[in-house]
Amino acid sequence: MSTGENDTIADETVGAPVENSSTNRKQPFPQGFLDTISTGWAERPETRPAPRAQAPYAQRRRAAVSAAFPGKRLVIPAGSLKQRSNDTDYVFRAHSAFAHLTGWASDAEPDSVLVFEPTTDGHDVTLYFRERADRTTTEFYADATVGEFWIGPRPSLAGVAADLQVATAHLDEFAPVDGELFLDEDEALTRFVSELRLIKDDFEIAEMRRAVGITAQGFDDIIRELPAAVAHARGERVVEGVFHRRAREDGNGEGYDTIAASGPHACYLHWTRNDGTVVPGDLILVDAGVEADSLYTADITRTLPVSGRFSEVQRRVYETVREAADAAFAAAKVGVRFRDVHAAAMTVIAARTAEWGLLPVTAEEALDADRGGQHRRYMVHGTSHHLGIDVHDCAQARREMYYDGILTPGMVFTIEPGLYFQIDDLTVPAELRGIGVRIEDDILMTEDGPVNLSADIPRTADEVEAWMARLQG
Ligand code: GLY
Ligand code: MN
Ligand code: MN
Repeated sequence: MSTGENDTIADETVGAPVENSSTNRKQPFPQGFLDTISTGWAERPETRPAPRAQAPYAQRRRAAVSAAFPGKRLVIPAGSLKQRSNDTDYVFRAHSAFAHLTGWASDAEPDSVLVFEPTTDGHDVTLYFRERADRTTTEFYADATVGEFWIGPRPSLAGVAADLQVATAHLDEFAPVDGELFLDEDEALTRFVSELRLIKDDFEIAEMRRAVGITAQGFDDIIRELPAAVAHARGERVVEGVFHRRAREDGNGEGYDTIAASGPHACYLHWTRNDGTVVPGDLILVDAGVEADSLYTADITRTLPVSGRFSEVQRRVYETVREAADAAFAAAKVGVRFRDVHAAAMTVIAARTAEWGLLPVTAEEALDADRGGQHRRYMVHGTSHHLGIDVHDCAQARREMYYDGILTPGMVFTIEPGLYFQIDDLTVPAELRGIGVRIEDDILMTEDGPVNLSADIPRTADEVEAWMARLQG
């Protein structure tokens, strides 16, 4: 909760011209409280944890940044709490570049700043953050935003230095200087740290596997709870809630808002309102990913027949999407361009929609770069994006490194074709209207080819039916 300056003024209850939530219910601290509150606390031993597993990886990432910007002072802020409404804030989420370069993730402190100070042969790197205040301060007991009495224990400079293996200093000692490069302001710095995440290191790959593994359990949970979703007037919310429980219990949360899209809602690509019913006979498209405590996230979509069995027409659409996904997977080879993966999926989508008589042109014409695209009405989104700390990772990378970039071992990206026939789309026969299917898997590129990190989550129509039968008994 953000209460601002006034909360640190312990004994002042009047003076603001307009009362608000930081003044209209504030109780004065009587002298007896003030005389005693700072005493009677046990000594807190200084804890110096062993370095976290990510520390040496983050150190190497910082070395790469340092080498790329000799002589420049670089500032990488973690970001601040963001107001949700009045005196409530969203849960703090550190900037992804900050988390990448520090290893400080779900436990990072708001307002922290990582600073690269140029030296004759590189940079001295210091992490500035608001160290916990001691118990003689008003911050301790009267500041609802950062006071330990309100939010619980906060870290010390020595503890974080040992944990992250980086020099630390109090935030009060950080002073901006002219000419330094700020993340998200300086284009070259912002691009560099984004492109630094295109190739994942061993720590990151392990975390991606962890995130996918918890997500797989979340999908199992959803299948077990589908009967409860059917029974509820807002069954999509049941699905969202079931996944949220898994994400919060075993991870940091969701890496993005869960899409629980039943029936025709599946055709709205980012349906997150999730207030619809879940009706037997329909499909439900669930796009959900657990973010681990390290902030690495999965991004998985499965489309399930609510009743446990696909109808003939649902199965035809589903297996076509799978055919597109398999074609994309087969195209994903070291040395090909990222966009070739998309092209492979779209070749299938164009061929099948043409075959079904949905296009006013041939599949070949639809695939023409300038005059085609008619098939994209039914799959308007891309097939792949990089995945990592951000669900859409490496967002500031140059196009030649991303869409036109070369697939390289260590890249992690999605393959997620779909087919969406809107409920009121007169270009498709009635039997297809209201059917939306997406299959999304998370892929690691290796020297030996692509590895589907989410291969353990059933994919084919037959596998999905068997999975549901098994979990629903
Ligand atoms: N969940 C968003 C996406 O698939 O890109
Ligand atoms: Mn995705
Ligand atoms: Mn997704």
